[in-house]
Amino acid sequence: MSLKIAVFISGRGSNLNAMIQAISDKRLDAQIQCVVSNDPEAQGLVIAQQHGLQTFALPHKGMKRREHEEKILEHLAQYELDFVVLAGYMRVISAEFLKRFHDERGFYRVINIHPSLLPSFPGVSGYEDAFNYGVKVSGVTVHLVDEEVDKGIILAQEPFPRFPDDTLSTFCARGLSVEHALYPAVLQQIAKEGVSLIPKKQVEKVT
Ligand code: GRF
Repeated sequence: MSLKIAVFISGRGSNLNAMIQAISDKRLDAQIQCVVSNDPEAQGLVIAQQHGLQTFALPHKGMKRREHEEKILEHLAQYELDFVVLAGYMRVISAEFLKRFHDERGFYRVINIHPSLLPSFPGVSGYEDAFNYGVKVSGVTVHLVDEEVDKGIILAQEPFPRFPDDTLSTFCARGLSVEHALYPAVLQQIAKEGVSLIPKKQVEKVT
């Protein structure tokens, strides 16, 4: 099944670009119906427009979260969407918004990529926090989004090493290249097989 997605961004858009490339290389069977941003100056919007994608930019300043999200939802109503794909979208998504993407299996069809091995280093500066902590191994996480920030069910994780001579910048660049491979691959797996869920709370005990 070709996955119909809306990609939400706030900035650079390198993950969006990786998806566009993966679609064009036929590594990802998806259609980006719309690129949404809360920042009309986001570099990723230029990338989207260069590739002929539809964009919708709506600054959130001066608007209540609810009102901002409602306007985005109104815009998205014209598309048939399988998933909302967050790629550097710097706004928390409300429970009301998530409910509109409810899946009958009890999750929301909203997915995110986070720049750390969750549950370590949640929040807005995953790479910086992991680097400053002095980790030897870090990684990236693709997860479903739920009402709690950075706590949704994990779909995939990919580790990468931190080398002794790394600077924050070389460390982030290594992570970002891992993101660019992992996010399209996870989306492709969903396109092929749907979401395979590993429940968060295991009841089994290891003896
Ligand atoms: C990525 O590091 C992603 O993991 C995080 O925000 C960053 C977005 O980068 N959520 P880009 O806009 O895709 O280049």
